[in-house]
Amino acid sequence: MKNRFWQLNANPEGTDFAAALSLEESAIPEPAEGEVLIENQMLSLDAGTRMWMTSRTDGYQPPIPLGSPVAGLALGRVIESKDPNFQQGELVRTFGQWADYSLVRPELSDLRQMNKDVADARQHFGVLGMNGWTALWGLTETAKAQADDTVVISAAAGATGILACQIAKILGCSVYGIAGGPEKCRYLMETYNLDGAIDYKAGDIDGALAAIPGGIDVYFDNVGGPILEAVLPNMVHYGRVAICGALAGYDDSQAPKGPATFDQILMKRLTVTGFFSPDFSDQGDRLTAQLMTWLDAGLIDIPFDTTHGLENVLTAYEKLFTGGNIGKVIVDLGASS
Ligand SMILES: NC(=O)c1ccc[n+]([C@@H]2O[C@H](COP(=O)([O-])OP(=O)(O)OC[C@H]3O[C@@H](n4cnc5c(N)ncnc54)[C@H](OP(=O)(O)O)[C@@H]3O)[C@@H](O)[C@H]2O)c1
Repeated sequence: MKNRFWQLNANPEGTDFAAALSLEESAIPEPAEGEVLIENQMLSLDAGTRMWMTSRTDGYQPPIPLGSPVAGLALGRVIESKDPNFQQGELVRTFGQWADYSLVRPELSDLRQMNKDVADARQHFGVLGMNGWTALWGLTETAKAQADDTVVISAAAGATGILACQIAKILGCSVYGIAGGPEKCRYLMETYNLDGAIDYKAGDIDGALAAIPGGIDVYFDNVGGPILEAVLPNMVHYGRVAICGALAGYDDSQAPKGPATFDQILMKRLTVTGFFSPDFSDQGDRLTAQLMTWLDAGLIDIPFDTTHGLENVLTAYEKLFTGGNIGKVIVDLGASS
């Protein structure tokens, strides 16, 4: 038996991932003392990992060293454990590797047992996953969104955005999503009953944002770049901006210059706060419990964009940067559950 894994050989140019990564094979690794070996069943593909593939050293994670396996979130079963807190056969989620098997040290990889009673295991990457935690934390703890606030969310049809849209509606906010293309905007309006959806690829995003009644109290920013520049002048005085991601610049080896409308932070006396899920992973059980209540009550859900087979990871990954997905992008590895 072999372990196949994706290796980073060079910093990718744009979305040309095939030129920079290769699918390699090795023996299945043996866990050393304190390590756990997991057979991956599903991979979560996350836009934030794109920055680790550049040479930037000023990000929230150091770059993946060239010649190393690509790191990413995995769901699977413990095959062998040399850590007394984890037992063979347990269903776990971890920052592992894009591979058939993940070898991890629990304290470095946020390895945690998953609730086996969740009927659809994909939800450990969906509503109950890191995107769910991030959407909930960003809205309630970072942006302090309240009923009657007007909330704008970018990358609104993606995993984090779709969950943020629904949570903001649950909180009683007026919710406007920004997404690429009429189909995604129609989907958001029809499925989640948003108050508005703005197609940023259609032009005149400034006009569309300026037309939001009463201005924007909260901006949940997944992308940075030109959309952030367009949103800032349309914030209300004392508005709150929760910086979740800066996707528009993740493929750049340089830190972005801008936003050009930075002075609006002063003019509108805005609060702008970045937040990062590993910083609040100790709150994960509480966040999961809240999300589970809403999931069970039918108040929140997420579509999955599923690709089959480890060999097809790059096709799935590219969707995050070309807008090819609605909802959560996962790769089903076909391992027995
Ligand atoms: N802070 C944290 O702890 C944390 C945790 C999880 C995720 N995040 C962040 O959340 C954001 C979304 O990540 P995700 O994994 O959930 O991906 P996702 O939203 O499922 O997919 C990314 C979506 O972003 C949109 N997009 C891509 N390039 C864009 C651009 N240049 N301008 C505007 N929109 C663009 C695309 O949709 P369109 O068709 O609409 O363009 C694409 O479908 C990322 O910035 C990620 O880093 C942060």
